[in-house]
Amino acid sequence: MLPDMGIKLDLRFATQVLCIKSMALITWDDSIKVGLWTIDTQHERWVGFINDLHEAMLAGKGKTVLRKTLAAMVDYTRTHFADEEKLMSTHGYSGYAEHKAIHDAFVAQVLDLQRRVQADEIGVSREVLNRLKNWLVNHIKVTDQDYVPFLKSKGVL
Ligand code: FEO
Repeated sequence: MLPDMGIKLDLRFATQVLCIKSMALITWDDSIKVGLWTIDTQHERWVGFINDLHEAMLAGKGKTVLRKTLAAMVDYTRTHFADEEKLMSTHGYSGYAEHKAIHDAFVAQVLDLQRRVQADEIGVSREVLNRLKNWLVNHIKVTDQDYVPFLKSKGVL
């Protein structure tokens, strides 16, 4: 009887772990799309990098993997911001300077986070990831939405 109970408990635990590991931190769906293919394609990839980081943390990956995954997320954040800023400035979007300042402030924050993780001052925790998630989702759903009608009027797809 006892060995059976042990197996059942282990299976239940394993199922819970599998469920947690398969849950994305951010679900990519229509609610987060801005409606411009160019931007949505990049946002989906950006979300993917945050989810990769989340999965690596849940899987208990070591510092090397977490730092590499964080670096990839930071790099892609900069790539996406640069591309988005180019689109806004090329078409003469009036909110460009304000939007770029928001990007710059976030980049400064993630670079500081990366520096602190590299220096072992902090780890990649749920709290850190939730802050990244909240910033990213809010930015896409609120700040990025502002330029959408303007860019659409310029023929951006
Ligand atoms: Fe899609 Fe302003 O970042």
